[in-house]
Amino acid sequence: MKKLIIALLFALPVAVMAAGGAHLEKANIDLSDKASLQRGAKLFVNYCLSCHSAAYQRYNRMGRDIGLSDAQVQENLMLAGEKVGETMTIAMPQSDAKRWFGNPPPDLSVMARARGTDYIYTYLKTFYIDENRPFGVNNAVFPDVGMPHVLWELEGQKKAITKTETDADGNETTVITGYEVVKPGSMSEAEYDQAARDMTNFMVYMSEPVVLKRQQIGIWVLLFLGIFFIVAYALKKEYWKDVH
Ligand code: HEC
Repeated sequence: MKKLIIALLFALPVAVMAAGGAHLEKANIDLSDKASLQRGAKLFVNYCLSCHSAAYQRYNRMGRDIGLSDAQVQENLMLAGEKVGETMTIAMPQSDAKRWFGNPPPDLSVMARARGTDYIYTYLKTFYIDENRPFGVNNAVFPDVGMPHVLWELEGQKKAITKTETDADGNETTVITGYEVVKPGSMSEAEYDQAARDMTNFMVYMSEPVVLKRQQIGIWVLLFLGIFFIVAYALKKEYWKDVH
């Protein structure tokens, strides 16, 4: 029985991963890297906040967490007229957005938690040219996506290299094996990877702003429990020494 439970515990993550479909690239983010979070925030407000809101995130809270003063946030990350205590909302009405894109752009406050860190990173890196789509692009991890490739000026445009695979039942599927750059962007591949990583980092921070504090507190709690265990054990020995 014990062996069975252990075997199941090990088999479970493998089964879950296998069901995930497209291959996800490792984002390797570092939530304690403030410079990366600041770059991510800047890219996010410049390239994403026009369509997507982040309605659970306040500008001033974000600034404090990633190491910017209110004045810096106001100057670098906000439009004139917005107040630093406001949340990251957008002016685009949902009904218009649905008409324009087929699907309205979802709120991104907790998207990184909903989809996973590596998914966000891979999503940002796998837009490819597809003339059959309304905006001329498709996405490897989100087939038939309604979002245009808003970062194409940075990344450039690329074609997918595909091959057809036939499974045991004779069903044919097309899989993407790589990409070929058709038009380079303003960033090199390494620079774009870093930009995608910074944005992912920022979105992961945003989906749980207390994460760093929670981990710090967790270490102290474990330390306390460790020390308390020694004290409790010594007490137990003292109380029971006459009984045995
Ligand atoms: C021009 C408008 C527009 C901009 C700008 C934009 N998006 Fe989107 N985004 C969309 C739309 C529309 C969808 C919904 C796609 C769908 O459901 O087919 C979407 C969906 C998404 C999703 C959800 C994917 C999923 O699995 O559900 C993520 C993540 C995302 N966008 C991230 C970003 C990021 C990061 C940026 C900034 C770099 C950005 N978007 C900029 C329109 C936009």
